[in-house]
Amino acid sequence: MKILVVGGGGREHATIKSLTGEGREIFCAPGNGGIGALATNVPIKATDIEGMVDFCKKENIDLCVVSPDDPLVLGMVDAMEEAGIRAFGPKKDAAIIEGSKAFAKDLMKKYGIPTAAYEIFTESAKAIEYVEKMNKFPVVIKASGLALGKGVIIAENLEEAKSAIHEMIDNGMFGASSSKIVVEEFLTGTEVSVLAFTDGKCIKPLTSAKDHKRALDGDKGLNTGGMGVIAPNPVYTKEVEERAVREIMIPTMEAMNKEGRTFKGVLYFGLIITEEGPKVIEYNCRFGDPEAQVCLSLLKTDLLSVMNAIIDEKLADVEIETKDGACVCVMMVSGGYPGSYEKNKLIEGLDENGQCEDFYVFHSGTTMKDGKYYTNGGRVLGLTYIGEDLQSAQDHVYKNIDKISFEKSFYRKDIGGKRDGI
Ligand code: AMP
Ligand code: GLY
Repeated sequence: MKILVVGGGGREHATIKSLTGEGREIFCAPGNGGIGALATNVPIKATDIEGMVDFCKKENIDLCVVSPDDPLVLGMVDAMEEAGIRAFGPKKDAAIIEGSKAFAKDLMKKYGIPTAAYEIFTESAKAIEYVEKMNKFPVVIKASGLALGKGVIIAENLEEAKSAIHEMIDNGMFGASSSKIVVEEFLTGTEVSVLAFTDGKCIKPLTSAKDHKRALDGDKGLNTGGMGVIAPNPVYTKEVEERAVREIMIPTMEAMNKEGRTFKGVLYFGLIITEEGPKVIEYNCRFGDPEAQVCLSLLKTDLLSVMNAIIDEKLADVEIETKDGACVCVMMVSGGYPGSYEKNKLIEGLDENGQCEDFYVFHSGTTMKDGKYYTNGGRVLGLTYIGEDLQSAQDHVYKNIDKISFEKSFYRKDIGGKRDGI
């Protein structure tokens, strides 16, 4: 069986690791250095729908897994199906749940799904008037469209809010993605990421996770794509889970069905656990990165059988089994990230497969040349280990992490919580 995974980061590396098996030949487009040890990298851009369909036809691909947000939002799954190619992921009309925050917020309002109070604007004067009237800070200003995870500004006062609104609507800070904005209430609580499989008939969550979005220790510094992640998330207790499934997950699946936009794939719930209970901060139409690295590491059930069941709308027949223990993934990034950084640094400490015996090394941004691995992005490696519990997994990763390095490499020292003496 031939499988193509679209994308080329740590999430796709984790997906491919979980898809490997006897009789399965895997391709990845565009892939990366470390992925090359498990799959054949194909130089096609992740958003090149025509190129991807042509490749699938030429290679007789049996299943195309569309992993990143942008090709999903652009309709790659629709194009695959139109060409008669079996594809995993939501179609364009369902991927809008991530592609338009305005759509997602209106959906939640219409179906009573708990989320922050908000309004949608396309004119800066009206948005500013609303913030002035609300007069409650901080306030959250969000670009409605995709913005590489950077389209959210938390404004501490009116001046900051005005400037964010002007930059987004009038000065095209995120291009067309910020011509429409969401202004919403700031919620206080602990964040949880929950990835859930759904075929539109039932919804089955994976282990909960906690992303660490800020660049520096103690949750300081700029927002990033994610500096590390742990699973399960300690605040996501059985009681919280039960409420989240009942008040958020099932209602979201049903709301999408009622809108005629049945969602089939992985639905990502970015939740915040407030005093009033769990609320939705954002939806994504795909696995999170780096959440996939820990959630898939803890998945016992064969990922391919889950994906097939979702496509065939038979997810009810599959039991999602999880391994015991806790998983920690610490991202090693290029110095300067998420600002400007250098590439092409030789990575020390990896074997010929891009691995290291002390943990699993998920490659986010690497290339391979003459049997050696080089950096090729901001987030470079995700060093991942499953321990008996969170503490032992964390200890293990940090005890061994310095066996891998490259010039100006950087990582947070508190993924999973502050450690003694640091
Ligand atoms: P998003 O891209 O929507 O996930 O937002 C990025 C980050 O901004 C989230 O992970 C939160 O930390 C923060 N954030 C977004 N919306 C809110 C909100 N309404 N209240 C508090 N924090 C928020
Ligand atoms: N880790 C957050 C995301 O994938 O959007």
